[in-house]
Amino acid sequence: MKNKEKIDLIINNYLGKKGALIPLLQEIQTLEKYLSKDTMRYVSEKTGIAIARIYGVATFYTMFRLKPQGKHVIRVCKGTACHVSDANSILKAINSKLNLEDGEDTTKDGLFTVMEVACLGCCSLAPVIMINDNTYGKLTPELISNILKKYN
Ligand code: FES
Repeated sequence: MKNKEKIDLIINNYLGKKGALIPLLQEIQTLEKYLSKDTMRYVSEKTGIAIARIYGVATFYTMFRLKPQGKHVIRVCKGTACHVSDANSILKAINSKLNLEDGEDTTKDGLFTVMEVACLGCCSLAPVIMINDNTYGKLTPELISNILKKYN
């Protein structure tokens, strides 16, 4: 496991503390970007928490990712202002450009992960997306292709 030492430190920090499972998994996810099966198994061994409980928590809360995240993360705003500015057509254009099928959020080459998020805080630019830390506003579906070309 790549981050074993760092994961050990995180686990040791929470050992014996009540209600520690969620924050512990959050910290590990921040480190690894997602929770792999191996990592969850390792947490179970080290903490004595049943693997079924760890899977249960990891699959129940939407904040946990069970699959690796792409190199670039595209956040598509689905807040009210963006929604009424047809954020759906932007999302469709992105998914179609990236060949993502229903239920898929990460491209096969691992380059992009697409997420739908609530308000990104720049409603006057609706519809808005963020790619990593860059914001793109007043979008139309036609603009998507050129924007995505900047990322590789
Ligand atoms: S609703 Fe999209 S930025 Fe606020």
